[in-house]
Amino acid sequence: MNDPAIETRGLRKAYDGVLALASLDLRVGPGEVVGLLGPNGAGKTTAVKLLLGLVRKSGGEGTVLGRPLGDRGARSRIGYLPELFRYQAWLTADEVLHLHAGLAGLPGSRRGPEIVRVLGLVGLADRAHDRVGGFSKGMQQRLGLAVALLGDPALVILDEPTSALDPVGRDDVRAIIRDARARGSAVLLNSHLLGEVERLCDRAVIVNKGSVVASGTLGELLGESTVRLRVTGMPADLTPLHAFGPLTDEDGWLVIRPVDPERIPDLVAAVVAMGGRVHAVDPARRTLEELFLDVVRGPGAGASPGALVYPAPPARPMPPPPPAAGGPWVTR
Ligand SMILES: Nc1ncnc2c1ncn2[C@@H]1O[C@H](COP(=O)(O)OP(=O)(O)OP(=O)(O)O)[C@@H](O)[C@H]1O
Ligand SMILES: [Mg+2]
Repeated sequence: MNDPAIETRGLRKAYDGVLALASLDLRVGPGEVVGLLGPNGAGKTTAVKLLLGLVRKSGGEGTVLGRPLGDRGARSRIGYLPELFRYQAWLTADEVLHLHAGLAGLPGSRRGPEIVRVLGLVGLADRAHDRVGGFSKGMQQRLGLAVALLGDPALVILDEPTSALDPVGRDDVRAIIRDARARGSAVLLNSHLLGEVERLCDRAVIVNKGSVVASGTLGELLGESTVRLRVTGMPADLTPLHAFGPLTDEDGWLVIRPVDPERIPDLVAAVVAMGGRVHAVDPARRTLEELFLDVVRGPGAGASPGALVYPAPPARPMPPPPPAAGGPWVTR
């Protein structure tokens, strides 16, 4: 039961000589939510199709729920929302779900209650008996999510689940994914909405041109916690602040990196106790979008040393030692 939900090594796919995926190493642990990111054409959907056995690999290895790629037993325990979905326009939402519950082999007695549950989860309870042909695109995407969540699958694979959704719908999907995780499902999420991934995922893997260019926990990818303070009236001797972490000056801001976020209130209190006036406190952290643009647009800039970034970024210079007297960030 403790098999990883997904494990691939060097997974590769060429379509008639077009290399869609050069080499994918991907691991999704049980109950983990992992974001698979990358620009258009990077190979994300190809990776998903390989995992599901919808296309055949050209090389590499992989297992899903402990079984070889495409294994029928494993497939029955996977919920999948395709990137391009189109349900039978003449069926009602309820009928679509009954069809998929049957295809997934859900026992007859469970189907009714399970369909009511997932329709409620995606906010379509009052549209159960309406024909899909009359649904808006966002409603069809909600239906697709309901299909993917039927029967509490051990693994849910969502290929851009929020592309048609309004901000409320996107927020609903975040709650739905958290709920799926709480119920024990692992989730692989393809999305271009990086803020969404940053809020939801335990780990992220960024692919570009068919290869992994960064991978790690969000903490590893986005770096250590940092706090930037704009202060005036500080004394020359900043020794009491060294207990909070290494100090540097960045464009007139007093920067402490790494810092324990729990200690930021104590840090501010220490500054005030030293006679400083605090004008701004910015708990800065790199965003996933900044990292994404760095790794996709060019090598060099990148994540923190804990993250796996390919090619490796140059070593980050050590922060300068704290100055003996107040630095230039202190405006007296
Ligand atoms: N059936 C196919 N036949 C030939 N080439 C394909 C096929 N499917 C995908 N490709 C190619 O493989 C590459 C990766 O496509 P893929 O759909 O996996 O990208 P993606 O990362 O999902 O992009 P997007 O963000 O636009 O959805 C692209 O160059 C694409 O043209
Ligand atoms: Mg895609």
